[in-house]
Amino acid sequence: MPSNPAKSLFEPFRSATLSLDNRIVMAPMTRGFSPGGVPGENVAAYYKRRAENGVGLIVTEGTLINHPAAGASTKWPHFYGANALEGWSGVVRAVHEAGGKIMPQLWHIGLTRKAGTGTNPDAPSVGPSGLNLAGEQMGEPLSEAEIADLIAAYAQAAADAKRLGFDGIELHGAHGYLIDQFFWGVTNVRTDKYGGDLVKRTRFAVEVVEACRRAVGPGFPIMMRFSQWKDNAYDAKLAATPDELSLFLQPLVDAGVDVFHCSTRRFWEPAFADGADLNLAGWTKKLTGLPTITVGSVGLDLEFTRLFKEKKGAGTTGIDGLLERLDRGEFDLVAIGRALLNDPEWAKKIKEGRQDELLPFSPESTQTLY
Ligand SMILES: Cc1cc2nc3c(=O)[nH]c(=O)nc-3n(C[C@H](O)[C@H](O)[C@H](O)COP(=O)(O)O)c2cc1C
Repeated sequence: MPSNPAKSLFEPFRSATLSLDNRIVMAPMTRGFSPGGVPGENVAAYYKRRAENGVGLIVTEGTLINHPAAGASTKWPHFYGANALEGWSGVVRAVHEAGGKIMPQLWHIGLTRKAGTGTNPDAPSVGPSGLNLAGEQMGEPLSEAEIADLIAAYAQAAADAKRLGFDGIELHGAHGYLIDQFFWGVTNVRTDKYGGDLVKRTRFAVEVVEACRRAVGPGFPIMMRFSQWKDNAYDAKLAATPDELSLFLQPLVDAGVDVFHCSTRRFWEPAFADGADLNLAGWTKKLTGLPTITVGSVGLDLEFTRLFKEKKGAGTTGIDGLLERLDRGEFDLVAIGRALLNDPEWAKKIKEGRQDELLPFSPESTQTLY
């Protein structure tokens, strides 16, 4: 086999809590193939196929915590209830049989949920201040008792993940969903301890992380995904400068996050207009000293949001720019979304230098679970 220029992607990864065979992470991608919230054998086979073909860590699609208004579809997997957890147990078994590692992405969509959708259509949608991403009043602010129940639901999911044999958890704190609605000033105008300045707006996430940590004990990886952008505002910024980013991240670090998954649409974009080339994962690693995952259009020439807004696919591109950054140690791990949704063999092809066999991303691939 010719010497492999992508070899840094295939170096093992070791941190205080996490050991992986290589640097390739499957990004969480909602698929909607779990009727009644129960992931079946087809879901297990889908993830197993990626593990067999060299993905170092799989982060599952967003899976709903035990709250009546967590989700907007009856086909998104639950992470509660005997049947769904039994289904996830089968997923873990299948991935481990193939030598892979897997973490569930724990999800509550907050006030992005349209009224009348999901498993409990009558349940009102909830968010920190009752405001949707456009800042429109959709309902009452969450009470402190309701917030306590939500935190307990995350912690129960974390405990269940550990019990089922998962290799850690990822908390979905990105893209304008519940945790991010607490982070963002547009959706969080609370005047109690869960609201205020950027640091105070981390309070909910901090309590979620602390409760999860209590539930799983030390040594079990807790990852946090966050993003500057929101589903309706790509130019939104939680942190306008590296100093603000540091203020935002520190309480999460102190609470017990092990790895940050820094969600961007294009990994090569500098996080700040301060002249530094570092992307969000680069800055996050530099500021916290913790391992980070980068993501966004790796190997593809159009960003993923074009799929949802315009039903567009994407062509393949080289990954030299990514490798240069990985070699420099800007970030530790690289999440791959659509390229892996489309092609379970993506990692293997890169490893074997079969770049010419990489497939363009086709929107049709979202309709099948292969
Ligand atoms: C079909 C689809 C579903 C997605 N669902 C989720 C999700 O459940 N949770 C999440 O954090 N991100 C989700 N994303 C975003 C991806 O994790 C990833 O960040 C994004 O696709 C960018 O990576 P890519 O350019 O390699 O595709 C989804 C993306 C796609 C294409």
